[in-house]
Amino acid sequence: VQRDWASSLDLHVELEAGGGRREAVERAVRGAIRSGRLRPGDRLPSTRALAHDLGLARGTVADAYAQLAVEGYLRTSPGAPTRVGAGPQPSLGLDAARPRQALVAARFDLRVGRPDLGAFPRALWLRALRRALGGAPDQSLVNGDPRGRPELREALARYLGRTRGVLADPERIVVTSGFTQGIWLLCRALRESGAGAVAMEDPCLDHQRAIAADAGLEVLALPVDDGGASPDVPAGAGAAVVTPAHQFPLGPTLAPARRSALLAWARADGGVVVEDDYDGEFRYDRQPPGALQGLDPEHVVYAGTVSKTLTPGLRIGWLLLPRRLVRPVMEAKEITGDTQALDQLALAELLASGAYDRHVRRMRQRYRRRRDLLLSVLADHAPSLRTRGVAAGLHVALEVPSEAELVARAAERSLALSGLAPFWHRPDGAPQGVVLGYAAPPEHAYAQTLAALAEALQARPSAGATSSRTTASTASRR
Ligand SMILES: Cc1ncc(COP(=O)(O)O)c(C=O)c1O
Repeated sequence: VQRDWASSLDLHVELEAGGGRREAVERAVRGAIRSGRLRPGDRLPSTRALAHDLGLARGTVADAYAQLAVEGYLRTSPGAPTRVGAGPQPSLGLDAARPRQALVAARFDLRVGRPDLGAFPRALWLRALRRALGGAPDQSLVNGDPRGRPELREALARYLGRTRGVLADPERIVVTSGFTQGIWLLCRALRESGAGAVAMEDPCLDHQRAIAADAGLEVLALPVDDGGASPDVPAGAGAAVVTPAHQFPLGPTLAPARRSALLAWARADGGVVVEDDYDGEFRYDRQPPGALQGLDPEHVVYAGTVSKTLTPGLRIGWLLLPRRLVRPVMEAKEITGDTQALDQLALAELLASGAYDRHVRRMRQRYRRRRDLLLSVLADHAPSLRTRGVAAGLHVALEVPSEAELVARAAERSLALSGLAPFWHRPDGAPQGVVLGYAAPPEHAYAQTLAALAEALQARPSAGATSSRTTASTASRR
């Protein structure tokens, strides 16, 4: 649907006192496009109308439009109305930091949050679905139980007990639409139990903070260093959400003393530790550390997902719950609805047949190869930059002097990168870095993707580059 924006009122252009007027118009229009208030194809007011509304010279607005056209935000042609462009390349900087936003047009992609979708085991999935459907009684084509299909809960209990050392009881597993729904269910259950706050690692996945806030919980910070999250859970938190096997996004493994300290906190305070094991299947240097849940199943929620092993598009995850949380989480689940029953049956079949294990082993080899190649490119082209979290998972954190600068240089080479900024509770003044998701590119494009990264790392910073955190719009104009 294309809309016409007749006036500056619709655009919400506010000219701040001081500062350039042309820049203010650019900022307002860019902001409207990035936030989605203006969509590709939408018509903007004419330069004359906007200049009149804002009390500016027409040339000022025309200059702003011209700049935005160069950046790809607008489409102008003589005699025709100015419209929002199809895909502003420079917004790579902003979008790249937010893996869940719509994909922008980049040839190469090292953003965090995606497995190699080209490796989705289509034939295995089809076979599993066919077998599951062939043998399934009619009653299994609905969920029935808010915890999910029993076939899947039983298969998960066996798989997780074997591979992750969790104490798994199918009665205490709730299948969710990914960790995203899982954390929502937990936050809601916490809120219902009277908790007012939850502690989350700083940095952590940004949308998980948003979900907690949306559930009415205050989000408190657990600082992260090379030993993982701090176990000093701030007073008032009903739960501490952590990523012990491979901290997201910085990558350390939770130190043994901290594992014990977190459990001690939960026992003493009646709190619960939420163990997000989002990429626990991928460890390259040694056996993965066993899940925290195995040490104290009454104080730890273990959360897993197929988003890294198969695809985030399946929307299947699971929670292994302490006894006291099963009922509240089931009640919350009844509000939000079930995960598809057929996909659950197919996953159960994939797990039970051993095909899932074989697929994970194959992918571990592929990702290890990719990680090694990435590390050699970093060693060759950015030997002074520190890498973190390389032993596991599907991403490497790289410390850089200016993240916006590197994201923008990569965008110039059509390479999308994730900056660290959105993951900090307070990005201002936080350490700068990028998170290189090396699973994302298709296999055939991986070498080219790394070549683009090498170029971006080697490119000299443009004049006026600063090591302070710059806004994405500033970066995008370099
Ligand atoms: C830290 C972390 N937790 C969990 C997930 C999985 O979320 P979901 O299962 O909703 O796809 C991700 C995926 O990117 C993640 O980065």
